[in-house]
Parts: sequence; structure tokens; C-alpha cells
Amino acid sequence: MSQFYVTSTPEALGQHVSALLINKIQQQPNLVLGLATGSTMLPVYASFVRLATSLNLDLSQVTTFNLDEYIGLLPSHPQSYTYFMQHQLFNHLKSQPKQCLLPKSQAPDLQAECRNYSAALKNFGLDIQLLGIGTNGHIGFNEPLTSFASRTHIVELSNNTRQDNSRFFTNKDEMPTHAVSMGLADIMEAKEVLLLATGAHKAAIMAELYASQVTENLPASILKNHPQAKIIVDEQAASLIPAAGLIRL
Ligand code: GLP
Repeated sequence: MSQFYVTSTPEALGQHVSALLINKIQQQPNLVLGLATGSTMLPVYASFVRLATSLNLDLSQVTTFNLDEYIGLLPSHPQSYTYFMQHQLFNHLKSQPKQCLLPKSQAPDLQAECRNYSAALKNFGLDIQLLGIGTNGHIGFNEPLTSFASRTHIVELSNNTRQDNSRFFTNKDEMPTHAVSMGLADIMEAKEVLLLATGAHKAAIMAELYASQVTENLPASILKNHPQAKIIVDEQAASLIPAAGLIRL
């Protein structure tokens, strides 16, 4: 059963989550870490870089897997998730992880790439997975009505998601229509999951998630079936959740 936690600001959330991740890496240097993209992760990665640098943290045995990647953008495109990870996290770390994996959405045989990605996830075993959430409740790019049994797959992005994410594209025609995403069954196999949300624009979906049954209409609700899922939100994203349902960090 997932529990909802609240921090004062996105920066406080970033500090809390990065300290938690670094603590795990110190305890288990070969941690398998599932990473996410999106604005929610920016304070997490900024704080992670500061803390890792000040501690001289050795990441050389860590493996990272990202949740998803757009189809049709080169890795060098500023809106690709490969570019995001390099520029928001990896380029700033003194010690590099052993391997940093993202779905290879340029692969000539994408179905084979999806199967290989799920097989690699199973093989390594995710210790902890970070997640953001879309305003329609998607996690990774698993849109509403995605099967809970899904593995890494090709996704057609919903109009809602294309609308939300088009803010990052100066030329709207460049906004991809498809992506490769870890499936919900892949995510649920992580030993621990942290779902993060910040900002007033996430308040409605977080209140919906708080009240929701487990249903494929709301992909993030699957986390209520996970034994080690924490949902961490800032004050603004928590504003429509009853205070009694929140643990203050
Ligand atoms: C994208 C990503 C998701 C992310 C979501 C929210 O759609 N595929 O993994 O959780 O955006 O992004 P943001 O943190 O910018 O609100």
C-alpha cells in the first residue's frame, strides 16, 4: 500500500529524494536505479549532483535504466530524453555510472528493442524506480487504459500528453506522436518505487490518485498494489489531498 508524503517545496523534495538515493548507493554500490525525466526531476538531479560531488560519491558500479524515450528524435535533439539525462545529470557527475541505459528508440527493429529492454530489466532487477506523473495519471508513457501486464512497448501518445509536452517544442510539428516506454509490469517489479509530483497543475491528479481504486483508467493507481511505493509531493501538488492522508517530511 502506497503512502503519501509531503515536503514544503520542490527543492525540499529534491533534497529528500537525492539524499535517499545517495544513502542507498552508499549501502549498495551496485544499485540498479530506474530514472525518469520531466521538470519534476530537475530539483532531484540538481541536488543529487551537489550531494554526490560534495561526498565524492563513487557511482562506478551503479547501473541506470530510464523509463522512456521518444520515437523520431535523435539522441542529440534537445528534447530527447537521452539529451535530458546527459544535460541534467550525467554530464555533471564526477563519477559516471557503469552503464546508463535508455530504450534505443532509433533501433531498426523496435519490437526486438522493447523485448530486449524488458529482458535486461528482469536480468538486472531494478532496486528503486523514480517516477513522475502526467496530468492524466500516466507513469512513464503508460497512458490511461494501458494494460497492467504491459512490458516495454511502443506507445501512441494521448492528445493530453502531446498537449502537455508540446510546451517544450518551439516547432509543434516536432512533437513526437510515439514513444517507447517501460511497461507497468516492468515498473511494478522494482523493489521500491518513488512517485514524485510538484506544482499546482498536479494537484487535481494527485487528489484523484489519492481517492482512486486501483484501475487501468489511472495508470499510477497500480502503485497502490506495490509493497514499497512512496508518493512524495510538494505542498502545491498536495493542496487537494486531505491533511490527514499526508505524512510531512
Ligand atoms: C512525460 C514523461 C513522464 C513524466 C511526465 C511528467 O510525459 N514521459 O515520465 O512523468 O512527463 O513530466 P513533468 O515532470 O515535466 O510534469
